[in-house]
Amino acid sequence: MRTAEIIERFLGHFIKNGHELTPSASLILDDPNLLFVNAGMVQFVPYFLGQRTPPSPRMTSVQKCVRTQDIEEVGVTTRHNTFFQMAGNFSFGDYFKEGAIQFAWSLLTSSVEDGGYGFDPNRLWATVYEDDDEAIELWKKVAGLPDERIQRRGPADNYWSMGIPGPSGPCSEIYFDRGPEFGADGGPEADEDRYLEIWNLVFMQNELAAIRSKTDFDIAGPLPKRNIDTGMGVERVAFLLQGVDNVYETDVVRPVIDCAEQLTGRRYGAGSHADDTRFRVIADHARTAVMLIGDGVNPGNDGRGYVLRRLLRRIVRSARLLGATEMVTPALVREVVAAMSPMYPELLREAPRIERIAAGEETAFRNTIDSGSKLFEQVAEGVRSSSGKVIPGAEAFALHDTYGFPLELTLEMAQEVGLQVDQEGFARLMAEQRNRAKADAKARKQAHADQSVYHELLDGPATEFTGYDELSSRGSILGIVVDGQLANEVHAGQEAQIILDRTPLYAESGGQLADTGSISAPGAHADVTDVQRIAKRLFTHRVKVTEGAFAVGAEVTAQVDSKWRHGANQGHSGTHLVHAALRQVLGPEATQAGSLNKPGYLRFDFRWHSALSPETRQDIESVVAEAVETDYPVNTFVTDIDRARSMGALALFGENYGERVRVVEIGGPFSMELCGGTHVASSGKIGPVVLLGESSTGSGTRRVEALVGYDAREHLAKERTLLAAVASAVGSPAAEAPDKVRALVERVKTLEREIARQAQAQARAQAVGLAATAVPVGAVEFVGAEVDSDDLRGLATSLKDAFGPRAAVAALFHKSGGKVSFAVLATKAANERGAKAGELLRAIAPALGGRGGGKDDLAQGSGTEASGVAAAQAALREELAGLGARA
Ligand code: SER
Repeated sequence: MRTAEIIERFLGHFIKNGHELTPSASLILDDPNLLFVNAGMVQFVPYFLGQRTPPSPRMTSVQKCVRTQDIEEVGVTTRHNTFFQMAGNFSFGDYFKEGAIQFAWSLLTSSVEDGGYGFDPNRLWATVYEDDDEAIELWKKVAGLPDERIQRRGPADNYWSMGIPGPSGPCSEIYFDRGPEFGADGGPEADEDRYLEIWNLVFMQNELAAIRSKTDFDIAGPLPKRNIDTGMGVERVAFLLQGVDNVYETDVVRPVIDCAEQLTGRRYGAGSHADDTRFRVIADHARTAVMLIGDGVNPGNDGRGYVLRRLLRRIVRSARLLGATEMVTPALVREVVAAMSPMYPELLREAPRIERIAAGEETAFRNTIDSGSKLFEQVAEGVRSSSGKVIPGAEAFALHDTYGFPLELTLEMAQEVGLQVDQEGFARLMAEQRNRAKADAKARKQAHADQSVYHELLDGPATEFTGYDELSSRGSILGIVVDGQLANEVHAGQEAQIILDRTPLYAESGGQLADTGSISAPGAHADVTDVQRIAKRLFTHRVKVTEGAFAVGAEVTAQVDSKWRHGANQGHSGTHLVHAALRQVLGPEATQAGSLNKPGYLRFDFRWHSALSPETRQDIESVVAEAVETDYPVNTFVTDIDRARSMGALALFGENYGERVRVVEIGGPFSMELCGGTHVASSGKIGPVVLLGESSTGSGTRRVEALVGYDAREHLAKERTLLAAVASAVGSPAAEAPDKVRALVERVKTLEREIARQAQAQARAQAVGLAATAVPVGAVEFVGAEVDSDDLRGLATSLKDAFGPRAAVAALFHKSGGKVSFAVLATKAANERGAKAGELLRAIAPALGGRGGGKDDLAQGSGTEASGVAAAQAALREELAGLGARA
């Protein structure tokens, strides 16, 4: 049964049983704790917690999931995968254990003709949480499972949580017995390879407050309702139903391996474990990378971007180790898209972008490998010239850390040139770096843990944002946090976070920075320096109290700094205009990747493959200027998401919007976006928008920056002053200044060429003069001279021409500041008589307190003893005389 059909049957089964279908959420959800969505239930968390009402009490989905903690294990075994799909059914306070077991059992065991999966019921096992007698009874009653195929397990296996505070509950897992050839008897408790988990039924009933490990957590209390969250592993069911041994052999993964075989010319399963591992790495990572890029992740140096970068680099590296010499990602992307698009049709639309981004990263990494190879050669040369055999760990680490050059490649290349690598030293440095990263992650976690102080408040009322309509609002204090602890009061001189029930101050979101302003009451005043939202419900104001005191429950007035807000409005509306202009000039493919705006400044990141030409930038600026000039009214309204989308409102790809959304419209169709930010009343109020420049922020993403309003005017005024200064410096009217500067630059170039020509002629004349003074020493002619020019190489080259076919040796010295640089030249005919420049130079270097080297025809060096020139010349003559005697 093909994977697409497994999914179809799953969804059909649950839709038939009253479940509403929800599409997979993006792999990136707006939760700082989750790198990627890793379970089907993630998008439903607010429903489990009772924070939002689900559209239906029964829902079903097939969720794309990424788990990257075992990335090193991928491919080494056939069990680990970074990408998988979880099919799930969910009940929000509707059916509970019995319904969940009933639905799962009937789908698994109904015959294929009846729309099920046709698993043999006698080969299915269940596990339950240690004290869940109710579940045991239900397995017997509903599924007819005998006692001996039901096992009790502890919290490590059968209590499910997200690993972070949130909904959780005991669970019951369904296993399929693959047969004695796969391991020992004794059920899942004995062998999880033979008994393969295919479906997890979670009885979601508790909220976790803190979680320290799988077995050590604090339950905050029961959830408002008893819920069901199940997850069936689509890929696992697929390989069982397709009669193959593992995920890599299924209809959606095997074609990717086949593609890798074609690209590399090697065979999967031909007997080499190392090769097979590489094939599996390529297949797994290519799938994950395609899905991540599809959901808007770009390769980068931290967080999600770094994971993607690592995946892509591991693909390139594995392919290289399999012998691939050409680009591999374009073909792999196409193969994955072909395999996955029956289930995710949007991939077809996104394919060109995905391919471009993957290929961009591959090209960059191949360049890294190339330049790394050069660096490697230098390192190897250094090791060899000091007669060493081992590349120090620090060098291998530097290649890895600074240049992204993987250790495997260093090892491979070292072996080729007969060197070893200090792997222990390398491992030590890696461990040190990992520890630093861990400490870093711990610090970040701590910062987040601090948010748990808001936990209590989150059950209370949400903050009402009044700032779309007013700049000053009355409200009362819901909570105060001082030094990370809830407090009743805060006094003058202290810093605190104050949570209000109503506030006009905008909290940072959607790219717009937080408002500044104040909170005050009779006799009390606090300056607000930042505003953030907690769990999208509470507005917390970071304040410094300058006067009096504030207490929980007190009535206060919150006031926005109106000048700041005016600037913020200009910045945000300006951002929308730039976005609209970009799409107008470049086309709808230029999709938003991020933005930031504040008074006077905006930046906008968008997906685009190449740098913008100055003309394009000018076009964009003109479109914006025209929109400002037209003075479009700015309208905002709230509507439901489907309607907003059908009107053509732009949404940020991968952002999780609620049902009701706010639309900001500037000039009707000119610009329409989903946006919660604050804006000017009409576009004329934005004032001038000046693009500063454009740059790359990583592969496939460009960034434009602009100044807005007053800051833009200031910038233009400064540029005018600069131009005036340039005009006066070149002594021409401003309008003629560019031509004048160009002419001056041209003239300087001509003069420089003339000077160089003269210097060359002089060197030639000097060389002819020097060549004429050469005298026989031993078997060659010799001339030694101290010269003024520091271009010894240039002079030596002219001298070589002047000597022509003569067997001659020259030594040139140039003194400067107590130091001396020197060169030795030996003509071809002199070489034939045994006089080699490199050897001669080494013979005289000690007299000059220096070192140097070179080839037979020309060698150069420098030293610190300028007084040694005479001695060096004498040494050279002696050397030549000796050669003559031997010749
Ligand atoms: N949340 C559970 C899991 O991820 C079931 O969907 O296994």
